[in-house]
Amino acid sequence: MSIIDEIKKKAHASIKRIVLPEGDEPRTIRAAAKLRDEELAFPILLGDPEKILSTARTCGMDLREITIINPPDSPDFPRYTQLLYELRRGKGMTLENAGTLTADPMYYAVLMVKCGDADGLVSGAAHTTGDMLRPALQIIKTKAGTKLVSSSFLVECPKKDVGQNGLLIFSDCVVVPCPTAEELAHIAVSAADTAHTLCGIEVPKVALLSFSTKGSASHELVTKVRQAAEIAHSLAPDLLLDGELQLDAALAPEVAALKAKDSPVAGAANVLIFPDLQAGNIGYKLVQRLAGAEAFAVLQGLAKPCNDLSRGCSVEDIVNTVSITAVQAQA
Ligand SMILES: CC(C)(COP(=O)(O)OP(=O)(O)OC[C@H]1O[C@@H](n2cnc3c(N)ncnc32)[C@H](O)[C@@H]1OP(=O)(O)O)[C@@H](O)C(=O)NCCC(=O)NCCS
Repeated sequence: MSIIDEIKKKAHASIKRIVLPEGDEPRTIRAAAKLRDEELAFPILLGDPEKILSTARTCGMDLREITIINPPDSPDFPRYTQLLYELRRGKGMTLENAGTLTADPMYYAVLMVKCGDADGLVSGAAHTTGDMLRPALQIIKTKAGTKLVSSSFLVECPKKDVGQNGLLIFSDCVVVPCPTAEELAHIAVSAADTAHTLCGIEVPKVALLSFSTKGSASHELVTKVRQAAEIAHSLAPDLLLDGELQLDAALAPEVAALKAKDSPVAGAANVLIFPDLQAGNIGYKLVQRLAGAEAFAVLQGLAKPCNDLSRGCSVEDIVNTVSITAVQAQA
């Protein structure tokens, strides 16, 4: 079974409430109906109900059993406004600003998740990553034991002799543009957690990637990756992890035997940590475009699950991301 089918099966087993702040966006409306029909989530659409229902009619969709909330008209609006004000007044927020922001579906959705009135959030069909991430970082914050929000891609390669039967975790490809050694260490530990809890990878084997393997090159960028591996070891002493490793040493047993024969992960890595966002983002797109891999994005490190879509997403992409978010909410 593919990773996304496994995730959908899990989502169906314990259905979660997922809020979709872009409620009047046609692909989102189609996805909400599909999620309801396939019993993968209880979708909550935010926005002007008249506009949402009229778009649904144009798309030929019915929205029975789907909750629609217009933030300014909601009985929860004053409570959320007050909460936002309390959380952010130390940063200069006034009650008036808090009211204006709570009327914004993106902030309202984040506040719903914060309050436990929804189990998770998915957006991005019409907004940028930063539009959703900033309120999530400000309001939901990181989960205990984590300092940093980052991302993983679940990458399913047609080549089944890499990773766990072709499944690899790539991190970070979305959030932290230029991580310090300490941030890279947190990304590595979070990605191992994603591999285990979301993807069912029993033994995550984490490789911190570089253009050098175990001192084959000297450069400050290599030193940073090596330091990150040391910090990650101290954060999670039981985790199988190594760095710095080149990609071929991480994945290919015959290269590992030559370049890193004492490594606990070389030649068998299933979690790949890229040294910065440019490498990570380019890396996952390369395997997607050139190797025909499937790639599913997930944010990690937030106290409650929120996930981002690409603005070019399809209805199926939204269904997949909501299913992933629902499974994160189960954990
Ligand atoms: C994540 C991102 C949106 C943060 O935006 P920003 O403008 O730097 O936000 P700020 O620095 O104002 O930080 C906002 C809050 O989030 C916190 N924060 C920022 N990045 C964080 C992270 N990765 N993890 C945890 N907290 C973080 C800050 O500490 C701050 O908290 P505070 O306001 O309570 O003090 C930004 O780093 C970003 O845009 N990343 C790249 C995303 C992107 O374009 N990806 C494209 C790939 S598809």
